[in-house]
Amino acid sequence: MSSFPPATLIRRAFVTGASGGIGAAFVDALLGDGYEVWGTARDPARLPARPGFHAVALDLADGAGTKRAFLAAQVEAGGAFDVLVNNAGYGVFGPVETQPFSVWSAQIDAMFTQTVRLALLALPEMRSRGRGAIVNVTSLAVEFPIPGMSGYNASKAGLSAWTLSLAYELEGSGVAAIDFRPGDVRTPFNTAVVQAPEGSRGGERWGRVWRRFEAMHDVAPVPELIAADLVRALRRGRSGVVRSGSFFQARLAPLLARLGSARLNQAVQARYFDLR
Ligand SMILES: NC(=O)c1ccc[n+]([C@@H]2O[C@H](COP(=O)([O-])OP(=O)(O)OC[C@H]3O[C@@H](n4cnc5c(N)ncnc54)[C@H](OP(=O)(O)O)[C@@H]3O)[C@@H](O)[C@H]2O)c1
Repeated sequence: MSSFPPATLIRRAFVTGASGGIGAAFVDALLGDGYEVWGTARDPARLPARPGFHAVALDLADGAGTKRAFLAAQVEAGGAFDVLVNNAGYGVFGPVETQPFSVWSAQIDAMFTQTVRLALLALPEMRSRGRGAIVNVTSLAVEFPIPGMSGYNASKAGLSAWTLSLAYELEGSGVAAIDFRPGDVRTPFNTAVVQAPEGSRGGERWGRVWRRFEAMHDVAPVPELIAADLVRALRRGRSGVVRSGSFFQARLAPLLARLGSARLNQAVQARYFDLR
């Protein structure tokens, strides 16, 4: 007999970037919490088959394809999702002047524009049913921008601002907009980072920053801890910011930063990233 609840109790979630790292942990946690889950990867062969899981091919670099893939999944899910988790994303590392404009704008398009588009596609059905949650996975980089990751910082900050704007507008609608901000998490994120052609790993200064970045990831919390925070946030069902990660990054640092001046915070952060 299936361990799933009766059809009327099944909640349905759509999770982008489900092939590894945080997204795969989200899928496991949601399946464990009784959801039926549609999860995406650019190559769906990377998505393991399991009960209650539907693999979806989706590439945020292809806007029209992204829309088609989501709408097809939504029909398959009975016309609406209860939860959309916009998790897919990637880093580009290197100083601003070395990043080709096409790489920079492609990152903003995938991680901001197409990500917002998915929320806009999911919203009407959620609103008309008076329930649902849009979870946009941003980052603590919204509060503490990462050196060498200007496009990443900008797309996450934009997504955060958009999510909090939406939260105002959804007040009283039964639909939540959650700005979910992980700190460092031990995932394959760094191996997928696109390195700018010059001055990134090669240059001494940026090499040091990169090594610091890698060292922080090596000791970061595992994605399962982050996924448990997501499930708790969905159970609360409230709009707003959710920080998730180590005690230092997700609790202490944001508190201390509120007490420090902008200048002091920037100096502390440059030191934290070994940016001399
Ligand atoms: N790890 C961290 O320390 C950390 C901290 C804060 C926030 N985050 C955020 O958390 C999210 C997940 O990151 P992660 O650490 O789990 O990284 P990850 O292990 O590299 O996973 C990234 C996921 O995004 C998908 N993806 C990448 N580019 C895509 C594209 N153009 N179109 C569609 N899907 C794409 C990948 O799928 P395929 O490659 O299979 O297509 C993969 O499933 C990201 O938004 C990241 O910015 C991570």
